[in-house]
Amino acid sequence: MSAFLMATWFRGLTATETLALTLAMRDSGDVLRLPDLGRPLVDKHSTGGVGDKVTLVLAPIVSALGLAMAKLSGRGLGHTGGTLDKLAAIPGYRVDLDPRQLIDQVRAVGVAVAAASQELAPADRRLYALRDATGTVNQSGLIAASIMSKKLAVETDALVLDVKVGDGAFFATRSEGEAFARAALAIGAGLGRQVRAVLTQMSRPLGKEVGNGREVAEAMDVLSGHGPRDVATVAVTLAANLVEMAGGSQAAGDGAKQAAATLGGGQAMEHFERWITAQGGQLGGLAARLRQPAQAEGRILADRSGFLASVSALKIGQAAALAGAGRSRKEDAVDPRAGITLVAELGQAVRSGETLARVHASDPDRLAQAQHLGASAFQVADGPPDDEPLLLGTLSQGGMNP
Ligand code: URA
Repeated sequence: MSAFLMATWFRGLTATETLALTLAMRDSGDVLRLPDLGRPLVDKHSTGGVGDKVTLVLAPIVSALGLAMAKLSGRGLGHTGGTLDKLAAIPGYRVDLDPRQLIDQVRAVGVAVAAASQELAPADRRLYALRDATGTVNQSGLIAASIMSKKLAVETDALVLDVKVGDGAFFATRSEGEAFARAALAIGAGLGRQVRAVLTQMSRPLGKEVGNGREVAEAMDVLSGHGPRDVATVAVTLAANLVEMAGGSQAAGDGAKQAAATLGGGQAMEHFERWITAQGGQLGGLAARLRQPAQAEGRILADRSGFLASVSALKIGQAAALAGAGRSRKEDAVDPRAGITLVAELGQAVRSGETLARVHASDPDRLAQAQHLGASAFQVADGPPDDEPLLLGTLSQGGMNP
């Protein structure tokens, strides 16, 4: 297998080869076929980012729009967070559902998000370990086969990929993100499955909160029509693509309007509450509980006056992990209260000594390390930065849209 991986790294895979590899990997484990739910079943995958709480907003939106979402998620590793760790910050939330419970819950409330079992495409885990050891992780066909083998193990009607691009993402450049997206879409086309990819910015964190419990609280702000615009924009864009693919909205832009309307109008929050309650989560005073101070609290201050020119997603992600929000080994525990709250906005004028971010850490040692690394994430310059768009384009089976 190592020789195969190295040959692949040098020579690439054709679309047919990528599809064959994907199916072999998917079929190394269980494939979940949900019975007819009376509404389209959709799924979403993010290639991973910092502050990425989009699933927590997207799932209730699509459920409010009459679609169903059954999603198997993973825990975070390194500087990017995992949806499962965020949900596990909610007291009582059960991340482990067996297939029967998953199906019953999706049928009853339209959404279930649970831990992927060891039986989900097990060949991918073995291959990934070999890729790691042979330096062949970074090959678009292998990445597409790895991600799509897991996504195709739940049979859905439409899948949207949030392909993050930037220093805090798996894909540092747009061309790497696009190569992966094209390979993933070709796999979908080969199987007659509807797949789209939305490329989104990850050179800066998404939203203002980074850290498991705080990200859930921020997602709740967005669901109630407040909260950072960037999180809402990504969630609404992904929802619109799912609605369009699932046939609920023919006119371009219609899906986005419908999705945005669920946020201020209370429907998305209502669907969030139904989902979390069905999965055992306790909602009473939840947002305030999730924002309780961590064991050690501190700040990052501007070291000069000027304009906040950049906030590195990678460094904020690494600093949040050091604070206690992330793990460097799979078996590490995470602290649901740990993380970083961004206070200053990108482009904002700041004065020397002004607070740029608050750091919430599990202990004073971690606080000091996170403050030190976190400070290097911020650049204050003489003038405001150029605007870097949040949405970098959508790739559908028909081609690329700006
Ligand atoms: N994420 C995956 O699941 N697989 C890859 O190959 C890369 C990122």
